[in-house]
Amino acid sequence: MINRILCIGAGYVGGPTMAVIAKHCPDVHVVVADINPERVAAWQSGNPPIYEPGLREAVGVSLGRNLQFTSDVERAIRDAEMIFVSVNTPTKTFGQGAGRAADLQYWEKTARNILRNARGPTIVVEKSTLPVRTAEAMDRIFKNGRSDLHFEVLSNPEFLAEGTAIADLESPDRVLIGGAETPSGQAATQELVDIYARWVPRERILTTGIWSAELSKLAANAFLAQRVSSINAVSAICEQTGADVLDVARVIGADQRIGDQFLRAGVGFGGSCFQKDILNLVYLCEQAGLHDVARYWETVVTMNQYQKERFVRRMIRVMFNTLAGKRIAVLGFAFKANTGDTRESPAIEICRELAAEQAHVCITDPQALDGARRALADVEHGVTFEPDPYKAAEGAHAVAVLTEWPEYRTLDYQRVYSRMERPAFFFDGRNLLDPEELHRIGFNVYPIGRPDRTDL
Ligand code: UDX
Ligand code: UDX
Repeated sequence: MINRILCIGAGYVGGPTMAVIAKHCPDVHVVVADINPERVAAWQSGNPPIYEPGLREAVGVSLGRNLQFTSDVERAIRDAEMIFVSVNTPTKTFGQGAGRAADLQYWEKTARNILRNARGPTIVVEKSTLPVRTAEAMDRIFKNGRSDLHFEVLSNPEFLAEGTAIADLESPDRVLIGGAETPSGQAATQELVDIYARWVPRERILTTGIWSAELSKLAANAFLAQRVSSINAVSAICEQTGADVLDVARVIGADQRIGDQFLRAGVGFGGSCFQKDILNLVYLCEQAGLHDVARYWETVVTMNQYQKERFVRRMIRVMFNTLAGKRIAVLGFAFKANTGDTRESPAIEICRELAAEQAHVCITDPQALDGARRALADVEHGVTFEPDPYKAAEGAHAVAVLTEWPEYRTLDYQRVYSRMERPAFFFDGRNLLDPEELHRIGFNVYPIGRPDRTDL
């Protein structure tokens, strides 16, 4: 039985995952190590560096009991029997495969660090999303590096979504563990199954070969992103034909074979995973000579790009073909509600485009204003940041909702309207509000994939 677990990488994935493991396995000592000392200090103080509903409470249960955060990665490796690797694997920005392939330098550095410092047989669990067959490469590094110790590599992709991470970890649809077919691979798989089985029903713990596990993660995210791009493609047709994408989604989703989740049209998907994982998949296909398959998946990203551009084009068109000098209040910058994360948020490109049109973009968000400042640090003119949504809208020509924060549902829009320029435009990029109600107040309303309500 495993008694000492380490996770390298205290980010959105590593932190919450280990908090939940520690909570359910009080007899297992769980250490989370990260090279960033400020992040570590924040976690260790019980005040996590990321915003996630229920996270602080989940950490509080075990912190100081069997959960600990440290920046001494080497020492933590020496003490561990099972090591999860959850360091970031962004898309490469340089060299071969730039813009598509995963940048594996942190993963490999971490693997070599494990190799140098491990003292006993170690199970290495890949948690970071990686291109298929990375585990094999890591296995080679371990096998060639030391003959005195046995390393077993497992793939245990994470399916949690931000904003619901703790709920997803507490009761996951499935836990996926990929291991080698060898006796030692199967034994290691069983060790990890035993950990999850403390709180996850056994039938939800799926075991496969390593490559199937790696590919399943990429394919699952590609399928989810594809649904978003599909409904967004439908939303463009709706706007041209007068159909309502909410009705269409309701009808499509009533078919049990399709299901009603993930059919919300909007300004496009964001987040650290979807685009990166599809691009990984595309790169993998190209490497394998499967060019038609690569093109197929690539269109999911192309459609997402189109949706963001389309949103801005429409704003320009209806606002009399010029945004220059006009104030636009952007409600929400996070890539989705209930997170402060702005990675790949559609708001980034939309705000950049608006600023390029010489609009004055005033951004508000309950959790992501720091992220917004960082994401737009190089935009010299035309963006400001304002925690109060009412102030953001003061003197504005238009309001654009880019994140579906629940608090934006209950703002006093009469008050918002009363302080705006006329005509007042409302672009609901997430179909968060009732367009009829906004129209009654006086706004000219442009939802996504639904008929406009306008007096112009
Ligand atoms: C990351 C990856 O982005 C994702 O592909 C994967 O599925 C899981 O891990 P996330 O947890 O959201 O997701 O990343 P991030 O919040 O950036 O956390 C990574 C952490 O690893 C950071 O805190 C970073 O300081 C740390 N890190 C990075 C190390 O400790 N060592 C390194 O060498 C590199
Ligand atoms: C996703 C996967 O859901 C998760 O299983 C995986 O582990 C990591 O990637 P996450 O990126 O946190 O999780 O959020 P998710 O809820 O999947 O949303 C991704 C993006 O799609 C967001 O920008 C969201 O606004 C958008 N989206 C989602 C839509 O536009 N419409 C929808 O119907 C659903």
